[in-house]
Amino acid sequence: MAKVKRLGIIMNGVTGRMGMNQHLIRSIVAIRKDGGVALKNGARVMPDPILIGRDAGKLEALAKAHGIERWSTDLDAALKNKDDELFFDAATTAMRAGLLKKAIAAGKHVYCEKPVAENVKDALDVARLAKKAGIKHGVVQDKLFLPGLRKLKMVIDSGFMGKLLSVRGEFGYWVFEGDLQPIQRPSWNYRLKDGGGIILDMLCHWRYVLDNIFGEVQSVSCLGATHIPKRWDEDGKPYKADADDAAYATFQLAGGVIAQINSSWVTRVRRDDLVTFHVDGTHGSAVAGLQKCWTQARVNTPKPVWNPDIPQPIDFMQTWEEVPDTQVYDNGFRVQWEAFIRHLYDGGPFKWDLLAGAKGVQLAEAGLKSWKERRWIDIEPLKV
Ligand SMILES: NC(=O)c1ccc[n+]([C@@H]2O[C@H](COP(=O)([O-])OP(=O)(O)OC[C@H]3O[C@@H](n4cnc5c(N)ncnc54)[C@H](O)[C@@H]3O)[C@@H](O)[C@H]2O)c1
Repeated sequence: MAKVKRLGIIMNGVTGRMGMNQHLIRSIVAIRKDGGVALKNGARVMPDPILIGRDAGKLEALAKAHGIERWSTDLDAALKNKDDELFFDAATTAMRAGLLKKAIAAGKHVYCEKPVAENVKDALDVARLAKKAGIKHGVVQDKLFLPGLRKLKMVIDSGFMGKLLSVRGEFGYWVFEGDLQPIQRPSWNYRLKDGGGIILDMLCHWRYVLDNIFGEVQSVSCLGATHIPKRWDEDGKPYKADADDAAYATFQLAGGVIAQINSSWVTRVRRDDLVTFHVDGTHGSAVAGLQKCWTQARVNTPKPVWNPDIPQPIDFMQTWEEVPDTQVYDNGFRVQWEAFIRHLYDGGPFKWDLLAGAKGVQLAEAGLKSWKERRWIDIEPLKV
């Protein structure tokens, strides 16, 4: 029988949307059901979480529903327990940097949702403290593990596209205001004082997606907007929505690639998926959504003729070929959790660390600055 090691994880913010669904249920509970994470030497790591939050009733019910024995409303006491080596945070953005610092001071390894902080200074402070303490650290970069983007990366790596020219990303959907229909995202997302805003939320993601798949980001021009200034919260109370709910950004990447990404909570979807990336290269093009990816080669490119007097004779959607599934694609959050747990025990480099997280915050901060000052902002190299 393979040796089983216990990994005590202090999980904060698991009653929230991401913490509960993606990190607890789809990742940690699923890993536990499957007998833990296999290490290089054949041993297995079994996560043993303690759920932390403010509402004892919610925590108890959540723990019970998923066969978890430990929960608490006392984070400080949990951090004192030497048997729990890892701190995880998926609670609200505004509190993250402070909590990470506390956990690092208590000698814990840390893993967390993005953004790691509300500004670069705090993000780098956390990364420096982690380096000094010699702990292991990771930040969620889930989009890299989406089947659609993994297929797209394979298409690019195969050389199919030739020289990359441009990327057009469309992210978003309509988030209900809360008067006519219940809201489907937390109201803090639309309040600046609570760490809300789509630029801080989404440019962190676009940094690692662009850097890892298309080319390092060199500069950004971003126009934000608050299209809907009044919303209704979880209790049906109206509030002033002062955070940006849409961002229209252009990025210059290494290798001369130009990327444009629209991020919006104020758009109604008519496209292949909630996020799509359309990439054009000299030898071929590709479009990726969350799960799927389609390609069109140079020799399969149709010849449209501009004629507004007739209905479009080409069914453009039919001129693309789908990249087939050739493997099982697990939930992306779980794949990254497993990689991080292996990193804790097997060692070796972990690419998606606090510095990578700080780079995400750097791009968000530059996007906000660009909007405010109405100009391009260059992205300088970051060092811990
Ligand atoms: N990786 C992704 O794709 C992705 C998607 C959405 C959100 N996120 C990130 O995940 C984090 C959580 O977002 P969410 O959408 O799940 O939010 P949410 O509001 O659903 O959850 C937030 C959690 O934090 C807790 N919390 C809020 N205020 C607190 C306080 N003052 N003290 C203690 N706990 C408090 C809440 O109880 C809840 O458990 C954010 O940082 C967000 O940026 C990541």
